Amino acid sequence: MSVQYRAVGWNRQKRIYDLILISSAIAYVAMFVGVGSLVHSQATIETLLIRAFGTAALLLLHVILAIGPLCRLNPRFLPLLYNRRHLGVTTFLFALAHGGFAIVQFHALGNVNPLVSLFISNRNYGSVAEFPFQSLGFFALLILFLMAATSHDFWLRNLTAPVWKRLHMLVYMVYGLLVAHVTLGALQSERSPILAVTLALGFLTLLSLHLAAAVRERRIDEHAAPAEDDGFLDVCHADDIPENRAVIISLAGERVAVFRYDGKISALSNVCQHQNGPLGEGRIIDGCVTCPWHGYQYRPESGASPPPFPEKVPTFCAQVREGRVFVHPRPNQPGTHVEPARVAESRVRSNDPQYTSR
Ligand code: HEM
Ligand code: FES
Repeated sequence: MSVQYRAVGWNRQKRIYDLILISSAIAYVAMFVGVGSLVHSQATIETLLIRAFGTAALLLLHVILAIGPLCRLNPRFLPLLYNRRHLGVTTFLFALAHGGFAIVQFHALGNVNPLVSLFISNRNYGSVAEFPFQSLGFFALLILFLMAATSHDFWLRNLTAPVWKRLHMLVYMVYGLLVAHVTLGALQSERSPILAVTLALGFLTLLSLHLAAAVRERRIDEHAAPAEDDGFLDVCHADDIPENRAVIISLAGERVAVFRYDGKISALSNVCQHQNGPLGEGRIIDGCVTCPWHGYQYRPESGASPPPFPEKVPTFCAQVREGRVFVHPRPNQPGTHVEPARVAESRVRSNDPQYTSR
């Protein structure tokens, strides 16, 4: 984690982010209701609110899903990612308002419990035109709640990063449920093409962004470095790595970030212990590799976070031979100190006695 870097914890930047987020979401709802009441003069305020909150939540979900690939394609989008969890909680609150109003409007007036009514009032599961689409919205809302409730770092630590990550990947299931919710619900009776066209454009945008990001990632994985007799792999020329930055390579199926700083080279896992952020897209700040997502820090030579933080990532042994950087694909235990290779020396230099120099 970070000592100096100011991205973690409450700060002015986070407050501005939240303020912009909340005020734009409220402005959207107000505008939707205002314009809606002019265009559909017969629509009740409840119906307009249900639609405003529902579409706002779906819009925010599109933004959340677009941020990941956008940041992979261009680091200028990183400030959006920095506070993505607040975006997720806001999405849940808007979805809750939509679902809550809808349950009151459509299920609260009978003598059956509204939540029971949601599931039994329509059982036409075999019909496309009359499919009980509201139950799909309910399950999406339930998952959004789980993700919002576990979004704090407290849960990340207690559930462990892989479990937390898997839980939060359910956001794609939420998206699928909601596309079905809207397609089988509102779109069945909607005469205006606006909702259908917006939904299709949203889907195509997300699909293209994810495909473009996947192609970029694949290029890294396909970079097959030639192996030397001693198992070290030729990565690149040392001059190809900008000062205080890294190149990311794929070694034996694992992403490795090779950093250059102060005339030295160190290699460590590219995967941040916080939320799997790409360490190799970060830079060295105050002598530490700083994750571009939320600012967790690791010492380049050991992969360990500076005290008092406990995070550790695996390190890799690196050498510089006649200006070229070689990395051994076998990872060392997380937190293992490896003497950095020196860039200035043009002769073979091993940074680990267990490997023989040529
Ligand atoms: C308990 C959960 C939910 C219930 C009971 C519910 C109910 C409804 C109903 C009755 C409609 C049709 C409204 C109309 O045609 O006037 C609708 C539409 C819609 N819902 Fe949901 N929904 C739920 C969850 C969600 C969630 C979680 C989202 C998004 C995050 C969402 C997004 C939408 C959208 C975008 C529409 C189309 C726009 C509209 O007509 O409101 N819904 N929902
Ligand atoms: S600091 Fe959050 S993923 Fe690295």
